[in-house]
Amino acid sequence: MSAPREQPEDALVVEGIVKEFRVHRTVFRAVDDVSFRIPAGTTFGLVGESGSGKSTIARCALRLIVPTAGRSLIAGRDPATLRGRALRDLRAQTGMVFQNPMAALNPRMRIRDIIAEPLVTHSRLGVRQIRARVDELLDEVGLSATHGDRLPHQISGGQCQRAGVARAIATEPALVVLDEPTSALDVSVQAQVLNLLQGLKRDRSLSYLLISHDLDVVRYMSDTAGVMRRGELVESGPADVVLTHPSHEYTRQLLAAMPSTPGVASTMRGHDERSILL
Ligand SMILES: Nc1ncnc2c1ncn2[C@@H]1O[C@H](COP(=O)(O)OP(=O)(O)OP(=O)(O)O)[C@@H](O)[C@H]1O
Ligand SMILES: [Mg+2]
Repeated sequence: MSAPREQPEDALVVEGIVKEFRVHRTVFRAVDDVSFRIPAGTTFGLVGESGSGKSTIARCALRLIVPTAGRSLIAGRDPATLRGRALRDLRAQTGMVFQNPMAALNPRMRIRDIIAEPLVTHSRLGVRQIRARVDELLDEVGLSATHGDRLPHQISGGQCQRAGVARAIATEPALVVLDEPTSALDVSVQAQVLNLLQGLKRDRSLSYLLISHDLDVVRYMSDTAGVMRRGELVESGPADVVLTHPSHEYTRQLLAAMPSTPGVASTMRGHDERSILL
């Protein structure tokens, strides 16, 4: 696959990324020369069987881990070339939402402190300004101030994921990675969290890299999509083409085997994005 051309309006460009892990004495190639781009304000849905390298490519793209080869450009800048303050500033332009919200949040920290953490690390705001910003963020994701005072185990899974979303957008990133953001949640709650994500994308011109096992979730959320198989991106393009009329036999088989939750897509538009009834 030829490398995508860099364009200023791309939120993320991934170019020829390879990631090898050394396991005992062998080298395992988890990501094998993957390239794609996410135009600003759009969602790229990534699907593929378990172990195909989806999370690894996302972690390489944000440079949470160092790729063996290749590079990524976040809003046009390569994190590998930055150090110190400049690297921290670029990190602040990205956010990440994980699969299991309870496990992703520090169990001993209050929700409001969890949301405040990236602001403490990345912003120059004072204590009062951070407190005010956290109140705004709680409101924006449909949580109340009292939810903010609780610990993760004292709120529901859906509310935990809302807190995870608030934390991911706290520094006003342009790009957010959503790694299975709703698969640990009940179906009714999934729709509400997806609606929240769609609303935030619209209001804040966010770009998403969405990893999901659920075909209906990817179809509903994505503008473009890609299919991973054993570390390679075997197909990518407009989401409706890739996910509905795939050209590769592998994609057809994968899609046929992927779980789907039609109820999620059909109930999504009807929900109030800021509902706190979870
Ligand atoms: N730190 C590591 N050391 C060794 N191998 C790893 C490491 N991280 C991931 N792998 C391996 O790399 C491959 C890709 O893993 P990855 O987590 O990216 O898959 P995935 O597509 O996200 O799967 P899932 O859908 O189950 O989350 C897997 O075979 C995994 O075991
Ligand atoms: Mg994964």
